[in-house]
Amino acid sequence: MTKSEPRNVRSAVAQMPRTFVLRHSDFLRHSSFVLRPSTVLALLAVANGPLCCGCRPDGSAQKPLAVVISGDTAGWIVPCGCAAKQLGGLPRRASYVRQLRDQEEVIVADVGGAPHGTSPYDRVKFEAILDGELATEVAAHNLGAAEVALGPDYLEELARSLSAPLISANVRLADGRPLVEPLRIVETAGRRIALVGVLSPRYATDQLLIEPPREAVLEALRDAAGQFDSAIVLAYLPEGELRELAASLPEVDAVVGGPTGQPVAPELIGPTLLTSATNKGKFLARLDAPTASGERWKGSIVELGDQLADDPGQMANLKRYYARLAELDFAAGRTGLVPPLPADTPPDYRVAGSAACRKCHEQECGQWERSKHAQAWASLQKTGAQIDPYCQHCHTTGYGLPGGFVSARRSAETANVGCESCHGPAQGHVPDAKTRTTYYAQAKNHCLGCHDRENSPDFAYDTYWAQIRHGEKSR
Ligand code: HEC
Ligand code: HEC
Ligand code: HEC
Ligand code: HEC
Repeated sequence: MTKSEPRNVRSAVAQMPRTFVLRHSDFLRHSSFVLRPSTVLALLAVANGPLCCGCRPDGSAQKPLAVVISGDTAGWIVPCGCAAKQLGGLPRRASYVRQLRDQEEVIVADVGGAPHGTSPYDRVKFEAILDGELATEVAAHNLGAAEVALGPDYLEELARSLSAPLISANVRLADGRPLVEPLRIVETAGRRIALVGVLSPRYATDQLLIEPPREAVLEALRDAAGQFDSAIVLAYLPEGELRELAASLPEVDAVVGGPTGQPVAPELIGPTLLTSATNKGKFLARLDAPTASGERWKGSIVELGDQLADDPGQMANLKRYYARLAELDFAAGRTGLVPPLPADTPPDYRVAGSAACRKCHEQECGQWERSKHAQAWASLQKTGAQIDPYCQHCHTTGYGLPGGFVSARRSAETANVGCESCHGPAQGHVPDAKTRTTYYAQAKNHCLGCHDRENSPDFAYDTYWAQIRHGEKSR
């Protein structure tokens, strides 16, 4: 991201009208959106006054309208592929939206929680996620906890440089001014949908205040009175707070969370529909607009499994992200994936590299070479993911440790899961076998650091150890 342009966005926001009306024509500058004849007719219908709800000027039935909402992406542009049948990813999300657009008018929005952390690496990844969302014509991206943690200056820059439609009705700068627009109103197929964003006050930072969500929603809607027909709240709140908010907002049609772990199946709380899109972007929440007067919005959860093809545009976006990572070649210390070492770390706490073990451990080295650990880098290379630090931190030796893996361009010798991934940095042991390896007799306790439930759901020590058994007294 270029830092050269002057930062005057903050004052621009302060002068902006509180409501931002987004017409579908605004999408034209982003991507391949084509204004459909039905949209034009429907907009004309609005301009000429109401004809009849659910009818087009020619009397034919109106195209149904769905709002597709993602959230809690947590840095997952694509599922890692470590295990079979993983859900989620922007390529599937986009392909779902594309298929639905063939039959319906679709508005896309995001509840927030897209970044994974705040490191320079996490920022690049977040920008790639936003690029991917913009390609699906996202109408509003609410600020979640992870977005707010990135700080106001960066968020303002993003809103400007990517034209990202960031919204929040209750996140404020320290002086009380809004950071981004409180809501967006999307007009499509003769309907005007207000998308309002809020965040739980528990995620306030030293730079950003968070006002009570309910009051902020009501204020934003009051300011936009008469400009919308339906209101949907994008609410990044833990489940308890989310339910309370839905129960206290009979004024809105739907409240969609949020970091709820598992998705909340759509349910009515009073007149308000509650649901959530969550869990590393594995599930989308879909809301269907009423088709006849007197009806309510309906909801469903969409699981992003491999029945959905990868969208080519999103795969191209992934390639651009990898190319940017290749260019930046982030060192482990700039990725936020490993904590810094304490200052009193002894100098021989250092990775020597698997090659340094061979002259004395020929047999173990031979066994290791035949194991999948010796292929871990090649597995990443199949999809170009070897450039991604997140993947590197489990598919290499001593990621971020002294002498261990630093970055793709710098660390060919420590690519792959080597001896010291399990035995610990062993520089002290190499010249003097009486000095024990760091994890002496404890190597078996270090499997779960990489073989966690997400990446290795079938892991069981006995069956896995049986496949890589080595050492003289092989247990
Ligand atoms: C938390 C550690 C961890 C991270 C992070 C991780 N992996 Fe893995 N990966 C594993 C483990 C452990 C396995 C072996 C799983 C098993 O077989 O039980 C694996 C297996 C794989 C495999 C299957 C190899 C094969 O053919 O058998 C691929 C492909 C893969 N990972 C790609 C990735 C990519 C791409 C990323 C980054 C997006 C990534 N991994 C991030 C730990 C990780
Ligand atoms: C630094 C991370 C890391 C540690 C620690 C680790 N593994 Fe792995 N393991 C991986 C990765 C990555 C793969 C996937 C390699 C590939 O195929 O690309 C893997 C694959 C395997 C496989 C092959 C699984 C298959 O599907 O064929 C076995 C078996 C295995 N690990 C056993 C263990 C055991 C036992 C331990 C602990 C003593 C352990 N691993 C510790 C990262 C690790
Ligand atoms: C100069 C020869 C030599 C080199 C080089 C060497 N080792 Fe050893 N290693 C030994 C000997 C000899 C023993 C048996 C020591 C004992 O049982 O007291 C041993 C024992 C071990 C053990 C079991 C005891 C312990 O301390 O944990 C592990 C694990 C081990 N080596 C790993 C490694 C690794 C990993 C490397 C490479 C980074 C390596 N060794 C390099 C000679 C060497
Ligand atoms: C995936 C994890 C893993 C990798 C990779 C690995 N080891 Fe081991 N190794 C173990 C485990 C687990 C044991 C069993 C003893 C223990 O828990 O420390 C063991 C045992 C040993 C022993 C015998 C220790 C004893 O007390 O009998 C030696 C020597 C050894 N490994 C050397 C190596 C060398 C050299 C490499 C690299 C070529 C290597 N190991 C790679 C996990 C690993």
